[in-house]
Amino acid sequence: MVTILLVHGPNLNMLGRRDSEHYGSKKLKEIEKLLEDEARKADFDIKSFQSNHEGALIDFLQKESGDAAGIIINPGAFAHYSYALHDALLDTGLPAVEVHLSDVNAREEWRKKSVIGPACVGVISGKKEKGYTEALHILMDKIQGLQRMTTNNSGLHS
Ligand code: DQA
Repeated sequence: MVTILLVHGPNLNMLGRRDSEHYGSKKLKEIEKLLEDEARKADFDIKSFQSNHEGALIDFLQKESGDAAGIIINPGAFAHYSYALHDALLDTGLPAVEVHLSDVNAREEWRKKSVIGPACVGVISGKKEKGYTEALHILMDKIQGLQRMTTNNSGLHS
């Protein structure tokens, strides 16, 4: 099965107890389950990880990206200033989609800038947990497209 990494940054372990106006009412475990179920329908597998620590997120990406085909990441506030996380994402060489539950463009000025975005194929913000399903479908389409290309090409050369 093809694996997609689902990565959450600081404070997102508190979902369900954070401001529901911004973040909705789902707990992190519920969001992870939602994505696992959706992915399984298309024979994809989700490997989830959350940490409040920048280095732990980077270690996870370095360790797991070799066996994965894509990344969904909600970096939390690291989105706004972690160049190290940006570099770690780029180094994986995998397509990544950045997701924010809240509409970061409609909040404080400092939330409008993401330093992670340039390392991603897309950014989805303000759709609460639906943003993750959208990100998953973008990645699955992309990965399946790449698989088709590889099959066609190897067909040409055989
Ligand atoms: C967030 C937005 C960030 O600005 C914030 O620091 C978070 C959550 C979101 O999902 O909307 O912790 O990433």
